[in-house]
Amino acid sequence: MATWGALLQFLIILSFPLFSKSLCLEESNELKTDAGDLNLRCIDIERNALLQFREGIIDPLGHLASWVGKNCCGWKGVHCSNQTGHVAKLDLRDKGNCFMKRIQSAAAYYDNSSCLGGKISSSLLDLKYLKYLDLSMNDFQGIPIPDFLGSFERMRYLNLSFASFSGTVPPHLGNLSNLRYLDLLAYSNPYDDIRRSWVSDLNWVSGLTSLKYLNLGGLNLSLETNWLQALNRLPSLSELHLSYCGLQNIPPSPPNLNFTTLLVLDLSNNQFKSLFPQWLFNISYLAELKLSSCYMKPSISKAAWEDLCHLQVLDLSFNEISGDISDLIGDLSRCSNHSIEELYLLHNQFSGQLPESLGFLKNLRYLSLDENWITGPIPESIGKLSNLNALGLAENQLNGTIPESVGTLTQLTILTLYKILGEDVAISDTIPHWLEKLCPQIRRLDLSYNQIGGMLPNSLPFSWDTAVIVDFSVNRLGGQIPLWPNVTHLILANNLFSGSIPTNIGQMMSRLEILDLSGNFLNGSIPLSISDMEYLQRLYLSNNLLCGEIHGKWRNLQEIRAIDLSRNNLSGNIPSSICSMPKLFWLRLSSNSLSGELSSLKNCTSLSALDLGDNEFSGNIPQWIGESLLSLIVLRIRANMFYGNIPENLCHLYNLHILDLAGNNLSGSIPSCLGNLSGLSSWTPYSRYSHLSYWNYIFTPQMVLVVKGLPTMYTLTLILVRSIDLSDNNLRGDIPEEITRLSMLGTLNLSRNQLTGKIPDSIGGLKQLETLDLSCNHLSGPIPLSMTSMTSLSSLNVSYNNLSGQIPSTNQFQTFNDPAIYEGNLDLCGSPLQTPCLTDNKGKVEDRDAKDDNNDEDETLPFYISMGLGFGVGFWAVFGSLVMKRSWRHAYFKFLDRVADCFYIYVRLNMARLPRMVSKE
Ligand SMILES: *[C@@H]1O[C@H](CO)[C@@H](O)[C@H](O)[C@H]1NC(C)=O
Ligand SMILES: *[C@@H]1O[C@H](CO)[C@@H](O)[C@H](O)[C@H]1NC(C)=O
Ligand SMILES: *[C@@H]1O[C@H](CO)[C@@H](O)[C@H](O)[C@H]1NC(C)=O
Ligand SMILES: *[C@@H]1O[C@H](CO)[C@@H](O)[C@H](O)[C@H]1NC(C)=O
Ligand SMILES: *[C@@H]1O[C@H](CO)[C@@H](O)[C@H](O)[C@H]1NC(C)=O
Ligand SMILES: *[C@@H]1O[C@H](CO)[C@@H](O)[C@H](O)[C@H]1NC(C)=O
Ligand SMILES: *[C@@H]1O[C@H](CO)[C@@H](O)[C@H](O)[C@H]1NC(C)=O
Repeated sequence: MATWGALLQFLIILSFPLFSKSLCLEESNELKTDAGDLNLRCIDIERNALLQFREGIIDPLGHLASWVGKNCCGWKGVHCSNQTGHVAKLDLRDKGNCFMKRIQSAAAYYDNSSCLGGKISSSLLDLKYLKYLDLSMNDFQGIPIPDFLGSFERMRYLNLSFASFSGTVPPHLGNLSNLRYLDLLAYSNPYDDIRRSWVSDLNWVSGLTSLKYLNLGGLNLSLETNWLQALNRLPSLSELHLSYCGLQNIPPSPPNLNFTTLLVLDLSNNQFKSLFPQWLFNISYLAELKLSSCYMKPSISKAAWEDLCHLQVLDLSFNEISGDISDLIGDLSRCSNHSIEELYLLHNQFSGQLPESLGFLKNLRYLSLDENWITGPIPESIGKLSNLNALGLAENQLNGTIPESVGTLTQLTILTLYKILGEDVAISDTIPHWLEKLCPQIRRLDLSYNQIGGMLPNSLPFSWDTAVIVDFSVNRLGGQIPLWPNVTHLILANNLFSGSIPTNIGQMMSRLEILDLSGNFLNGSIPLSISDMEYLQRLYLSNNLLCGEIHGKWRNLQEIRAIDLSRNNLSGNIPSSICSMPKLFWLRLSSNSLSGELSSLKNCTSLSALDLGDNEFSGNIPQWIGESLLSLIVLRIRANMFYGNIPENLCHLYNLHILDLAGNNLSGSIPSCLGNLSGLSSWTPYSRYSHLSYWNYIFTPQMVLVVKGLPTMYTLTLILVRSIDLSDNNLRGDIPEEITRLSMLGTLNLSRNQLTGKIPDSIGGLKQLETLDLSCNHLSGPIPLSMTSMTSLSSLNVSYNNLSGQIPSTNQFQTFNDPAIYEGNLDLCGSPLQTPCLTDNKGKVEDRDAKDDNNDEDETLPFYISMGLGFGVGFWAVFGSLVMKRSWRHAYFKFLDRVADCFYIYVRLNMARLPRMVSKE
């Protein structure tokens, strides 16, 4: 069976646009040097140049081992012209391993040993006849693109994509007047500018007068306001990719458009916020237009889509575009050639009804209209779209029934209909005929968030494929869990299923990769046969009535990444076989009645998140946690019966973002070494967590469903939430000053302990702190003035201590109007307390930056802030729940855009096309 890894590789290979493929083919034919290479004489000076180049390269796996001997034309990656004998082509593209490891790695630092890296020697300049240079997919560790690459007069093809170059793109490249293809697609990560190339002006591009293909995706062009003018001077450009470039403006109408030869225009994932540019409609040969996730809010009712009758792909998804859907579809249907094949409008504000003329778009293969405001019935003519592969109508205000003609779409493999069925439309107890007809071909069926009641038939004729994803979550389905042998992802969360999980589920559904039965009424114990699901990657059984002990048969689950058994009635100890699953990084057993000590987890070295909260565990917090579980990002053991000191070893968990020991019986003092937790004191490049997001992308139930599929959000919350909660214990002594070094900390809760001494003066060092709770201790002294510089602070509680002096009144303290947060401190005075301060304002701080009136009017801002809000809200709540308000999801998505890197987005977008690719395999 094809593994996801292989699949992903496949996606990468296929994910680049059709056109570039064909153009590239043409190019490589031009450069064809064929097997005659071996007999060609290699020119000495060029051979030496190559050897010198090789010296600068770090090549741990010996990719360049064949670079020995006289005949350099036969060396791997080196191609000579069969006429002149000169080296014409140097192709050192990594064929998959380096890049794959980069994104798949299970370790915080990926294994770069299969990557080429190092320096690029200017000796290459001796290859005067070089026409083709491809260094893509390697890892040059952030070195700048060498200037001298601009000196290859004959260069026609230059590919440095995903090779981790950084710094400014040398304007010198503009000298390459013979260049046809320039691909600088970068691994972009807005928080990790070190790895982000910066192009501050694009004027140099106009020197590339032969250019046909330009990809600057992921490069930072946010300072470039004239990008259109600069590119407008390229007369033969046919493909332009500028996604993730931080572009801010899209000029409404450039003077004279030179772009008329353009076939592919990809401007997705920028921040245009502008009107729909009319000049787009002058590019009459345009075949592919991508403007997704560009913050666009125009109404495009009057747009002239019928001028773009060559359009095959139109992607406007994830904007706020409004307009009547019947205008757009009407326009497109008037093109006599019916060129449109892929239409992605998901997540916009299109309204109106779907016209019958939809049926004219007979070449349509992908139609995604999910998450719009479309009303009325689904036209019967939908049955005429006989090439339709994917149909998404979810989350609209459609009424009427789903036409039987849907069942005649023999190519349909993806159907998303979540949040679509109103009381009118509900599928009643029987599965509709059209659905049963589609079953054998369907690869992804999403009927979640509807009102579907009754029971699911125990046999539906799904047929086996690499991925068969079935999502009936959040409905009113009851009865027994159905057993459908060919399904790989079964998502039945939040329904009314009851009874026990069938004991033979493991044998019957042996192909399962994801099993999500959380939020039902399942009772009985966890069936042993689950251990027969050798492909299982995620097991979510939380929030049921499961009881008994956690069985000890876990050894066979070698692929499993995440287990969530929280919120059940499980009892007994944790079996040590849990740690025999080598890829397990996510283990949640919270809110059960589990007991005993933790020694069985000692070997779980791959764990990144461990949640044992709300159980009956006891004993000391083991020393070995800080020795063995070094990958931990989340350690949550709150509300148990642990006692004794907080072991200093915990300070070795350098990845830790969330430490929650609240509600135990811990005593002693707060270890000052907590101030050394580097995960809380320094910004960690997002890429460090790529392993988590990768898994989430591929393996969480939601993510595979493009529309709702915002899986990286999990990881994001994980990365964003940085919290220490030691509340409700018996901790004594001072608040260690060292803790104030944790400059990335978002939440600090030390309430309900026996802490004494002063609040450290240096507490102002907690610059990112949003929530601070020190209530119910015995702290004395004043509220330090340095706290007025903690401008992120939005929630404060210092009540019930022995604090004294004046409450600061500047900056965010002006917003803390609730006296309750100060009460129970007899000697505090000043607003908002009733007690006026008698002594004069000796402690009054200068209003240095009282102008904190950052009214950016970025409506999503509060959202981002609240994401950091600490534990309850920010983490598990969001984490665990599938139910999210639309606006939240939207904000998430935008957020995702900002943080996620190019690659993941590729995956996301391409998941949409998954079945097509799979079937090509
Ligand atoms: C060189 O290679 C090209 C492309 O394969 C081929 O058409 C041409 O005949 C070859 N020329 C010689 C001299 O072998
Ligand atoms: C791999 O990473 C290490 C540490 O960052 C670096 O020293 C080494 O040169 C890298 N290897 C390659 C091939 O880039
Ligand atoms: C550049 O390299 C990448 C990755 O190796 C490849 O996918 C892409 O198609 C190449 N670009 C061009 C224009 O050939
Ligand atoms: C269009 O391209 C031509 C040829 O390169 C150039 O001379 C002209 O200035 C360009 N027009 C604009 C508006 O840039
Ligand atoms: C469906 O919605 C349309 C407009 O929103 C309305 O006119 C029509 O009466 C509705 N039909 C049904 C069956 O509810
Ligand atoms: C599973 O899929 C296979 C191959 O597609 C098919 O032959 C078989 O009947 C399916 N099994 C069930 C129970 O539907
Ligand atoms: C941990 O692994 C070691 C070596 O594989 C083994 O000897 C030991 O019994 C394991 N400990 C537990 C608690 O499973």
